[in-house]
Amino acid sequence: MINKELPKINFIGNKENISGWISSFFPAGIKSVFDAFSGGGSIGYQAKKMGFSVVSNDILRVNYLLAKSLIENNSEILNDSDIEVVFRGKPFRGFMFENYSNVFFFPEECMELDLYRKNIEDLSNEFKKAIAISLIRRAMVRKMPYSRFNIKWDKIKQLRDEEYSYNKYGRRRAYHNISFKDHFLENVKDYNNAIFDNNKKNIALNDDTFDLLGTVKADLIYLDPPYTGTMNNYFSFYGPLDEYISSKKLTPFKNNFIDKQTSVALFDNLFSKLSSYKYWFLSYNNSSYPSKETLMDLLSKYCNNVKVVERGHEYKITGKDNKQKNKEYLFIATNIK
Ligand SMILES: C[S@@+](CC[C@H](N)C(=O)[O-])C[C@H]1O[C@@H](n2cnc3c(N)ncnc32)[C@H](O)[C@@H]1O
Repeated sequence: MINKELPKINFIGNKENISGWISSFFPAGIKSVFDAFSGGGSIGYQAKKMGFSVVSNDILRVNYLLAKSLIENNSEILNDSDIEVVFRGKPFRGFMFENYSNVFFFPEECMELDLYRKNIEDLSNEFKKAIAISLIRRAMVRKMPYSRFNIKWDKIKQLRDEEYSYNKYGRRRAYHNISFKDHFLENVKDYNNAIFDNNKKNIALNDDTFDLLGTVKADLIYLDPPYTGTMNNYFSFYGPLDEYISSKKLTPFKNNFIDKQTSVALFDNLFSKLSSYKYWFLSYNNSSYPSKETLMDLLSKYCNNVKVVERGHEYKITGKDNKQKNKEYLFIATNIK
């Protein structure tokens, strides 16, 4: 196993803490892994470290670019002159200023973002651009209260008021008021250090997974879709980052696992398209919908060797005695005829 560390990403629903547990079930003899809902990239990165050939996919462009910079990329890093390119020139009124001033950030911050976005296009190749976007992404997420883009401006302003935050919550949250540039500079070394070559071909894709199943070849497919019934609207969390990247307003994506009414049918459809993969790994938990039993039944329609392993996750709600048991499931289907 290659000794490398994922840099700080801060992605809702990431599997960073349990990537070792999940990958410990990867069967001997596999050579390739398809991380089909890659998000913050933790499982694809783990698979890359283990020496597998990795295909990573996510419907959000921002997640695809993260995978492009850390998984597909073997050697390109951002050097001092690249960093100079990103931050040169004067902030101006562009897409972010026009659309998101006093919505997510202050007007002058939006103008800085507009400048950096334009400058990133002057970097010399696609990997450097992807790393720079990933670092700006990290800075934007860090400056957003609750790290997601579905918070109202009044609340954002309130939580960015350090005195208010301190008096109310005992935390200043000063990192919300650190500049994008300082966040970027603080993280660039860790992102550069995380880039390595595992001597395999690794690819990042940006598509609806439902359109890729069967066409992407791999021994093992890892499925970590949004957990229905929990707070799982990824377009609302991160869609504005994709809008920043493409400088245009976007509409939410379909096949998103948000709606309880359609989620069972969506899972059924997903599992029905997996026949070309030898191993199917699915993450889920006990506070989401549908239940473990329903998922077992659905998987068993398409594969006759399915098991589930569980990992207890105990977290306190209030006080000592009020503990809620949260279980993380890993369904493992072995589809060898
Ligand atoms: C639970 S998160 C994955 C977390 C990831 N395993 C990690 O460790 O960070 C689910 C991801 O699925 C993506 N997604 C949702 N629907 C999708 C679809 N139809 N096709 C591709 N990606 C999708 C979301 O954008 C989100 O990034």
